[in-house]
Amino acid sequence: MRIDKKNLPVHIAIIMDGNGRWAQKQGMMRLFGHQAGVKTVKKIVEAARETGISVLTLYAFSTENWKRPADEVSGLMSLLKSYLQNELDSMLKNNVRLSSIGQLENLPAEVQKVLKKSIAETAGNNGLILNLALSYGGRIEVISAARQLAELCLEGKIKPTDIDEELFESKLYTADLPDPDLLIRTGGEARLSNFLLWQASYAEIYFTDTAWPDFTRDDLFAAINSFQQRQRRFGRTSEQVIKK
Ligand code: FPP
Repeated sequence: MRIDKKNLPVHIAIIMDGNGRWAQKQGMMRLFGHQAGVKTVKKIVEAARETGISVLTLYAFSTENWKRPADEVSGLMSLLKSYLQNELDSMLKNNVRLSSIGQLENLPAEVQKVLKKSIAETAGNNGLILNLALSYGGRIEVISAARQLAELCLEGKIKPTDIDEELFESKLYTADLPDPDLLIRTGGEARLSNFLLWQASYAEIYFTDTAWPDFTRDDLFAAINSFQQRQRRFGRTSEQVIKK
């Protein structure tokens, strides 16, 4: 699949769906699907880095995922922990900076510890930003920003009329990151599932039936290629965009 290196999405965000169904189809436990999903994570991080993508956000665990059976939740947490431990050297070697968004305080203490360590150790890297959405929910993120702004109003530091898009964005988990240009969802469902609700306003959305464990570099390039065929108008007319 050919892609134009001069017109790459700066930020790609992925909803990595379909692990459970992929495993169950083979008569295996759901966790087997998540294990296969980790292998795909490694391949796609490498492909994004080599392609020159600046930010890759992966939806690894949502605020709603806490409601899953306890053994699946603990299995996912231990996969996360071992992923972070095993990949630190590779992140350092490949100039990858780790970052994370979500209610990180709700993660098990040992996951928080390895996460903080990897974020701190990779902080000086300036290549791909690998941003993991963990215990992440778009609605709670927006509520948290609204609460912070309400506090500032109460303290008299800002007025309600000072609140604009820029100020609001500065209170989101993604304050330091550009909005996603391309949002991919694997696994055949066509919904956002509480992912980057504010930030995805103008993202090009790409749905594929391929389950996350089967998602390859070529599938990523097909998504980028689809992005490159589209005209992003940001509310303007086609003529305005062509003239610009
Ligand atoms: C959705 O598939 C996937 C998840 C809830 C977890 C994603 C986690 C990983 C890919 C592995 C850990 C991540 C990292 C970054 C190391 P699903 O279980 O909802 O699939 P289903 O819709 O088929 O049930």
